[in-house]
Amino acid sequence: MFLWSSKYETGSSFIDDNHKKLFEIGYDVLAFMQSERNEVNTSYFKNVLKDFMTYAKFNFSIEEDYMSEIEYTGFVSHKQEHYFFIKRLCYYDFDEIITNKESLQKLFEFIYSWLDQHIISEDLKLFKKQL
Ligand SMILES: [Fe+2]
Repeated sequence: MFLWSSKYETGSSFIDDNHKKLFEIGYDVLAFMQSERNEVNTSYFKNVLKDFMTYAKFNFSIEEDYMSEIEYTGFVSHKQEHYFFIKRLCYYDFDEIITNKESLQKLFEFIYSWLDQHIISEDLKLFKKQL
């Protein structure tokens, strides 16, 4: 999970770098969880989740600005996917999740499967056609 692959390359190095950062955060979280044997380090995970949300929102806003600029026909549905992803993440009680490895693992499994599907089905469609 969270291993970067050429299948995610959009053709825009700027967007790819943003996506890579999201993958790196996820990879680090999973590696950190596997290395910890006892208590979950709550301040570490709090910062990681904050970073992830910041990068995700930043990346989405860049994509949305670009879609708007080129008057992309799939703008509404693509933007909705971003919106529902962030909304779903907001439903999670991060304070509770960061104290429980199993919940944290499930959260990052969801994040990975969403990113994998979204990049391949939406972001590639957006950037590969335009470049
Ligand atoms: Fe997107």
